[in-house]
Amino acid sequence: MKNILITGGAGFIGSHVVRLFVNNYPDYHIYNLDALTYAGNLENLKDVEAASNYTFLKADINDSEGILNLFQKYRFDSVIHLAAESHVDRSITDPLSFLKTNIFGTVNLLNAAKEVWKDDFETKLFYHISTDEVYGTLGETGLFTEKTSYDPNSPYSASKASSDHFVRAYGETYGLPYIISNCSNNYGPNQFPEKLIPLFINNIIEKRPLPVYGDGNYTRDWLYVIDHATAIDLAFHKGKKKETYNIGGFNEWKNIDLVKLLCSLMDEKLNTPERSSEQLITFVKDRPGHDLRYAIDASKINADLGWKPSLTFEEGLSNTIDWYLTNKNWLKNVTSGAYQEYYKNQYKK
Ligand code: NAD
Ligand code: DAU
Repeated sequence: MKNILITGGAGFIGSHVVRLFVNNYPDYHIYNLDALTYAGNLENLKDVEAASNYTFLKADINDSEGILNLFQKYRFDSVIHLAAESHVDRSITDPLSFLKTNIFGTVNLLNAAKEVWKDDFETKLFYHISTDEVYGTLGETGLFTEKTSYDPNSPYSASKASSDHFVRAYGETYGLPYIISNCSNNYGPNQFPEKLIPLFINNIIEKRPLPVYGDGNYTRDWLYVIDHATAIDLAFHKGKKKETYNIGGFNEWKNIDLVKLLCSLMDEKLNTPERSSEQLITFVKDRPGHDLRYAIDASKINADLGWKPSLTFEEGLSNTIDWYLTNKNWLKNVTSGAYQEYYKNQYKK
């Protein structure tokens, strides 16, 4: 039996990765380590919590001693590291917590892995999950490849870029075996409603304004979260050590076009008159340092590992809306309390 540590498994992407590994690999024991910040939610994993190959560990990656103890106790064979502060807007108001968790927390995990694995690096793997935002912004054309220089623009992307550098440095300096993947914007079930798609779904349900930043002409490359989890599974099992893989949806949308598509799907599903959700669109003050365009060239993971997205955007978005409409309690629970305060501060005029 292999012991796999997945960090951030109670979050959005992490919960899909945990589910996939628990269900598909009965020979692995999956340890989900999560601090349960505002973004972590064990409700996301109700269906696997009783599995015999699953254990939840409540811990903070900023606690270096606690993390080393867990590595010594459970002798993890591999790590898939997703725990992070993940929202760009929050990084603009509170950069230090991004520095702490995303950089310091990652280095704590690297130190523990190095210490416990030092006599047998061969069979081990530290798989670091990162973002396309480390590459900065594109103009109207071009794609991010694995060779694009890092050029981060937000405190979030600067902290993720730094963590990527540390992972690579531990590989070069100490021989720690690693893989890094850099993925584009994910969407799907269980995403916290601070990110564009679930925030707008929730606001349409509640008939609140849809706050589009700036002129809405910013472009993102969207990928269904389960397709990201499948790519992580492939890279984990078949990826080459010391390699980076870019993962993306081949699916670029300008924010304003995406929001209009979302509005029309919501009108259909909620049985509201055509264009009624669109009337909620409100252009608001832009995000500072807002990256114009992200787009991933995912041809390497496609050619080397045979991965490609399985759903069209319309299918994925429709599934996503259905999930939120049938899980209104989930939405209600995560938007009560602290969320209201966050929303008020973030969207005040
Ligand atoms: P998320 O915010 O939904 O989840 C993050 C999880 O990490 C939460 O469960 C939280 O409780 C946990 N966590 C935070 N700080 C912690 C700490 N100090 N110790 C232990 N656990 C802690 O994030 P997500 O969107 O699922 O992103 C997961 C990872 O994927 C992140 O590393 C992010 O940078 C990366 N990523 C995200 C996207 C995206 O579109 N969401 C795209 C590419 C890469
Ligand atoms: O590209 C990968 C990254 O995608 C991940 O690394 C991040 O963790 C994830 O949060 C996401 O970052 P973005 O900043 O692109 O995602 P967000 O959902 O916050 O915003 C998407 C776009 O929508 C962006 O151009 C900003 C805009 N936006 C967002 C919000 C929350 C709005 O216009 N209004 C909003 O209220």
